[in-house]
Amino acid sequence: MPIVWRDAFSIGYKQIDNDHRHLIDLINDVETALTGEHTLSRLYNAIDDLTAYTRRHFSFEERLMIEASYAHYDLHKVAHLELIEQLKQAAQPILDLKEGDAHTTLAVPEEARDVLVGLLRHWLVDHIIKEDMQLKSVL
Ligand SMILES: [Fe+2]
Ligand SMILES: [Fe+2]
Repeated sequence: MPIVWRDAFSIGYKQIDNDHRHLIDLINDVETALTGEHTLSRLYNAIDDLTAYTRRHFSFEERLMIEASYAHYDLHKVAHLELIEQLKQAAQPILDLKEGDAHTTLAVPEEARDVLVGLLRHWLVDHIIKEDMQLKSVL
């Protein structure tokens, strides 16, 4: 079930909202790639794209927080590091399949799929609502 953008996700800062919209698309791409049979390279590209864009977005947000002398910068940065770590850990068993001779997503163990899909359903959205939303009055 794809994540659908809602107005309640908007922090009212255009470039951040646009990034969050794009990240939701990239999350949905990963879930789509994990549904049915696709090439593993398609799945790996989707995971790579999400990871790379997430890193870029977090750096951008952190720069803005520094410029705004945001009081909770340290906590927010730690939250970003934890999110990256969670994504890495949930994706690792799937990325490890590379070592074998698997070629399609049918080789992804059900448990590994469920862990990654389960994480991604709330991973970014929870952070937007809890931490990013606090930037609304600051930026
Ligand atoms: Fe964000
Ligand atoms: Fe953030």
